[in-house]
Amino acid sequence: MLKDTPILLGLTGGIAIYKSAELTRLLRREGAEVYCVMTRNSRRFVQPLLFEALSQNRVALDEGEVAHPFDHIRLSEKARVFVVAPATANLLGKLASGVADNLLTTMLTYALGRRAPILLAPAMNANMYKSPAVQENLRRLKKWGIHLVGPASGELACGDEGPGRMSEPEEILDRIKGLVHGLDLAGRKILVTAGPTREPLDPIRVLSNRSSGKMGYELARVAARRGARVTLVSGPTQLAAPPGINLVRIETAEELKKKTEELYPQTNVLIMAAAVADFRPRRFHSQKQKKTEMKSADNLLELSSTPDILKEISKYPRRGRVLIGFAAESENTIPNAKAKLQAKNLDLIVANDVSRPESGFEVSTNQVCLISADEKIEELPLLPKEEVAEKILDRVVKILETRRRPKP
Ligand code: PMT
Repeated sequence: MLKDTPILLGLTGGIAIYKSAELTRLLRREGAEVYCVMTRNSRRFVQPLLFEALSQNRVALDEGEVAHPFDHIRLSEKARVFVVAPATANLLGKLASGVADNLLTTMLTYALGRRAPILLAPAMNANMYKSPAVQENLRRLKKWGIHLVGPASGELACGDEGPGRMSEPEEILDRIKGLVHGLDLAGRKILVTAGPTREPLDPIRVLSNRSSGKMGYELARVAARRGARVTLVSGPTQLAAPPGINLVRIETAEELKKKTEELYPQTNVLIMAAAVADFRPRRFHSQKQKKTEMKSADNLLELSSTPDILKEISKYPRRGRVLIGFAAESENTIPNAKAKLQAKNLDLIVANDVSRPESGFEVSTNQVCLISADEKIEELPLLPKEEVAEKILDRVVKILETRRRPKP
């Protein structure tokens, strides 16, 4: 995803630098070319050799120790994103005051002047973070268009609790990807549903399905990093909330319907990736049903239909909103998906062949066809769910563009 993309990684003297080694590894795994710049203080924590080995590039060090006097210009110009992780209070202060007294701050000041994308991952003690000077510097840097990731709250290396923990490498990586690929969904509000629903029979037993939520969570994560304001309505999953999104948890189809209908009027795009149960037990038993009472499974499992949420919502006034559904199919994928596209009056349906073991439920890859309202089909190869999400969101961007154009 970041194949051959030059990324500049500035390293300052904070204990969180150990996480930057993992960030370098993740960036390399995505195919990025990583160039590290280390301050003197950062080298008190780790040797440049570590980052040289991980990045497979020479590490740029302070002036006086570099081979070429124009390193700050050459490297700065090369980078698609200039990320500093960890960014100490000292670094923030220098950058906000225009101090360029070492290679890293010189390069950053240069990058700031040419409006290159800069991403800072602050990391420091909680009280330092809360200090008026640091807060003022952060405000100033933000005003200048510098992007910030974190800090998170929690236990700090010094033993204190509070804000100041450097964001996790995966989150920083996500933000880098967002900056590289552009914020083409900035200002858009996207509602994604994910995971299964769980329809209770009694306090112990539920009717559910195999959805892990992975597909919907990837959609939410990728949409957020492309600049959208994302709400994810999720059935029960084992997944952590993607950073920067509003996560709403539900259990049943009825709860999902209520939440989706409540949030729909404030969204520009609805993507229904949730595997909603089509049936629920007709009756909820407030006490556990005993085996003896379960003799007749017919009585026990009397079912009634759940509401078709997407179909209901498709009847609401559209007002330029984009409606995307999924169709999980084990046979006749395309004709079945086309029928759902029409019945639910969608802008796009993601026809999901769930018959292959590496596609659909639970796994991290998916094989889908994107079918647009005019029934044009784009067949995608088997891809990681993250890339499927990118492709779906590319289509969302295109559809939104057509909505903006005045009618001839
Ligand atoms: O969660 P994972 O493990 O990553 O798996 C991903 C997935 C297979 C769940 C996902 O890719 C997928 O295909 N989701 C849709 C599953 C589904 O319910 O398909 P369907 O063909 O039954 O429903 C068609 C569409 O109507 C879907 O957008 C569904 O969300 C919606 N629907 C369905 C039933 C219902 N009562 N109300 C609905 O709104």
